Amino acid sequence: MKTRVTEKFGIDYPIVQGGLAYLAYAQLAAAVSNAGGLGQITAMTLKTPENLRAEIHKVRALTDKPFGVNFAVGQHGRPYEELLEVAIEEKVSAISITGGNPKPIFDRIKGEDIRTLVLVAGVRQAQKAEDLGADAVMAVGQEGGGHLGRDDIGTMVLVPRIVDSVSIPVLASGGIGDGRGFLAALALGAEGIEMGTRFIATKECVHASRAYKDALLKGKETDTVVIKRTLGAPGRTLRTDHALQIIEREAKGESFEQIKPLISGQANRNFIYDGDESNGFGWAGQVIGLINSVPTVQALFDEMMAAVEHRRNDIARMFQGSAEAE
Ligand SMILES: Cc1cc2nc3c(=O)[nH]c(=O)nc-3n(C[C@H](O)[C@H](O)[C@H](O)COP(=O)(O)O)c2cc1C
Repeated sequence: MKTRVTEKFGIDYPIVQGGLAYLAYAQLAAAVSNAGGLGQITAMTLKTPENLRAEIHKVRALTDKPFGVNFAVGQHGRPYEELLEVAIEEKVSAISITGGNPKPIFDRIKGEDIRTLVLVAGVRQAQKAEDLGADAVMAVGQEGGGHLGRDDIGTMVLVPRIVDSVSIPVLASGGIGDGRGFLAALALGAEGIEMGTRFIATKECVHASRAYKDALLKGKETDTVVIKRTLGAPGRTLRTDHALQIIEREAKGESFEQIKPLISGQANRNFIYDGDESNGFGWAGQVIGLINSVPTVQALFDEMMAAVEHRRNDIARMFQGSAEAE
């Protein structure tokens, strides 16, 4: 494939693995990059800058393909500067930014040979990213897993709106889990996609507990809910009793401090690492309704590209049919 995304990022397929808090480590990132996409490791959930350096070295031991480092700058309540220095020193080829003001990062990496992706949920954010010099934006619709925009705009509307509002390439994100979603994104004007939830249900996402993967397999599109809306940071998670309890307490008007133990990084790890559903939660998008297998990342890519080919032919036949009828 050839789009501005494959060209700028030096990859075979314009498929980016989203930052995945506590899950996106070397094995997954390398598997995605080896399959021809852009794998990423998530900086903000690594304990120290040296942990990030070690993780980058691990990816390099597993692949010689480009990969990225994700910075969720507004989240996790910790500074990112030292982590960013490591990414620069290690000359990673790409970084992705989300969650807060990306300007200080752009100021710092000016002149460095680093491609940039900014995750956005609205037109204004996309335009700002373009003004700052982003190489591409990833437009995440409200069906996506993890943190979302506050305006509840679905991918189907958000992507073409952003495509029409910026001149840099746009990747569609949120609700994409197979070749049909990929092709639909391209039809909307996107030049690539980002997937988060789908990559958790793969063999190389080794940190996800059996319970988490099982929940993604069993869950239907109706089995997610949005938590933290009243805290101004909505995020889509599996619909468990724990998640419903968070929503209930938000509805009562409880503050961030009161709800914190239920939404903390520790609560997140309790479920995603240990499968403790009573004391933890796991981010997930509506796309779980489409997830029925836990393949290798390579098998997922193969399946997706075969489906793209298949659907493309079906669509071409639909147009031939109409031409013949005329
Ligand atoms: C478990 C999980 C953790 C996430 N953590 C991050 C993160 O640390 N940084 C980030 O930029 N995005 C994060 N996201 C968002 C994803 O990168 C991506 O934008 C989103 O998953 C796309 O929607 P999808 O899940 O429908 O594919 C996370 C998503 C999930 C499901």
